[in-house]
Amino acid sequence: MATLRSSTCRVLGKASWTTTASRPGAVFVRSMASVGEAPKAPEPRLKTFQIYRWNPDTPSEKPRMQSYTLDLNKTGPMMLDALIRIKNELDPTVTFRRSCREGICGSCAMNINGQNSLACLCRIPTETSSDVKVYPLPHTYVVKDLVPDLTHFYKQYKSIKPYLQRDTPAEDGKEYRQSKEDRRKLDGLYECILCACCSTSCPSYWWNSEEYLGPAMLLQSYRWLADSRDERKAERKQNLENNMSLYRCHTILNCTRACPKGLNPGKAIAEIKKQMALGS
Ligand code: SF4
Ligand code: SF4
Ligand code: FES
Repeated sequence: MATLRSSTCRVLGKASWTTTASRPGAVFVRSMASVGEAPKAPEPRLKTFQIYRWNPDTPSEKPRMQSYTLDLNKTGPMMLDALIRIKNELDPTVTFRRSCREGICGSCAMNINGQNSLACLCRIPTETSSDVKVYPLPHTYVVKDLVPDLTHFYKQYKSIKPYLQRDTPAEDGKEYRQSKEDRRKLDGLYECILCACCSTSCPSYWWNSEEYLGPAMLLQSYRWLADSRDERKAERKQNLENNMSLYRCHTILNCTRACPKGLNPGKAIAEIKKQMALGS
């Protein structure tokens, strides 16, 4: 059994740990650092980040990529850690959205090395020495640098009426109850954080975003169609019954590959199409 021993290094005021793990029954010994023995600085692990820059205050200047190099020994593991360090220590003008830092708010969505993702959930790629390229979400108007304009996206969200609609009052006058089985039908839908990674990776949405709702809004539409408590299913389906809102989806499934929350908008769209076809 491994033995653990420790002592406080009074000389330097800090302790170091040594191990004899190569021997059977590894023994960990906390030893005093020798006086005058300078701690070895780790080799810098340099990584260059190329970031898309565009400033609306100088609209005649074309967008460009700007490079920043960080030592990964001093940077957290995620892309958002790198961006925050760049902004705090190298260039305060670099602009991006972020809030929760844990994949909940959806605001740090961007395109990292060609893949739509949340910067706070995306590890800094270390398997190659190549630069990391960071762009705003593709096919969006850009407010500044990495900030996409999501006005139209939210307008479409409003258009699907993303709230419970019913006339029948609750039995107890307080709560609209749901069986456990019906509640389970919302799993994989209610977790959507509206980050737009899926919609902005969908070729059909790129070319038809004015009228096609795109995978995020269709997943949200299905979230309400699947809710046993909602009483406007016929009206919700009627709003999708046209050439553009739903049927621009050609089942390419870029959306499902792009979702950083592991959701499956492609499947939700297929379920809506099935319900529409069966009239169920
Ligand atoms: S499956 Fe449909 S929504 Fe998803 S990427 Fe393809 S066309 Fe777009
Ligand atoms: S389905 Fe996934 S990728 Fe699309 S908006 Fe929701 S969380 Fe983001
Ligand atoms: S900062 Fe909230 S999802 Fe990344």
